[in-house]
Amino acid sequence: MGTTGSGLEKRIVVFGGDGVGPDVMHEALRVLEAVGSSAGHTFTFDQRQLGGCAIDAYGTALRSEDIEAAWEADAVLLGAVGGPQWDDPNVKVRPEQGLLGIRKALGLFANLRPVVANEALLDASPLKADRVRGTDLLVVRELTGGLYFGRPSRRWRERRGRAAVDTLVYREHEVRRVAELAFQLAQQRKQHVTSVDKSNVLSSSRLWREIVNEVAEGYPDIRLEHMLVDAMTMKLIQQPSGYDVIVTENMFGDILTDEASVLGGSIGLLPSASLGTVATNGRRPGLYEPIHGSAPDIAGQGIANPAGMILSAALMLRLSFGMGREAAEIEQAVERVVTEGTRTRDLGGDATTSSFGDAVIAAL
Ligand code: IPM
Ligand code: MG
Repeated sequence: MGTTGSGLEKRIVVFGGDGVGPDVMHEALRVLEAVGSSAGHTFTFDQRQLGGCAIDAYGTALRSEDIEAAWEADAVLLGAVGGPQWDDPNVKVRPEQGLLGIRKALGLFANLRPVVANEALLDASPLKADRVRGTDLLVVRELTGGLYFGRPSRRWRERRGRAAVDTLVYREHEVRRVAELAFQLAQQRKQHVTSVDKSNVLSSSRLWREIVNEVAEGYPDIRLEHMLVDAMTMKLIQQPSGYDVIVTENMFGDILTDEASVLGGSIGLLPSASLGTVATNGRRPGLYEPIHGSAPDIAGQGIANPAGMILSAALMLRLSFGMGREAAEIEQAVERVVTEGTRTRDLGGDATTSSFGDAVIAAL
């Protein structure tokens, strides 16, 4: 594994965040350093605060100077945000605002969440092995629209009691760009797109379906199927291996990806990539984070599974830096480590966060 001489320099803004976020981030950065030094790349880590830790330090979940730094960086890594100490529903600043804020500020309209059932972990799945075997799907979740960002969103009092409203709005360009991406990704996979909506009830879903159908005309090689979201929750359990790319709006995607995440045994294994629009200079903002949350109950104990974070770093190498070979090296190392039995507590083992990281680095 000698230096190749064709090394690249990449600057990465790193938000460890809250709870187990910093624990798992530490391992991902060690893995990146190991891969970088053997491939001759230089990764610079610009560590910053986002979420509850930023509220404690600065009184806000995300500072504008940190957004600027993220814009200027080659990519962003994020651990996890949130925790019980910031959960008071009456406070004005919440850790999640940091996460939603950076997604919106960088225009990260598509969230890619791959779910692959690893043969060695089939026994850890809540489903029978025969059901989950062969699962290899990719949820493409719209990330900057829908209920999460629609206005009005507020609460008020009226004579008969309290009331609140959130707004589910989608504009044509928002649906079109995420649908295009889903079809493009399906071309590199199993040529199958499932679009999920609730078009039997919601106007926004009927628009969604109409636009997805229009986009599909440009991809005659792709098999398109529409599913209602309630039926999709059942299908994901009954026949998860029957899906390839699943594209859906923000809130449905949030719910379906938590469901999908347990199919393969542990949510701790799953990475995600959030991508923005390609700018005129060819650069595309990318933010990479594991799917799991901040798990405050085990924070700082050194037992969290860093695989989802490490695999998110691998996605960053592939999608933001064009380092497909290095990404695959990390993915294969993680797979080998898990298959050979180094497992953290979520997978029934007793490996610590750092011993898992050591094992991945040794397997590279
Ligand atoms: C996720 C999370 C976030 C979301 C929360 C923490 C705001 O659940 O990334 O799926 O709902 O998008
Ligand atoms: Mg979620």
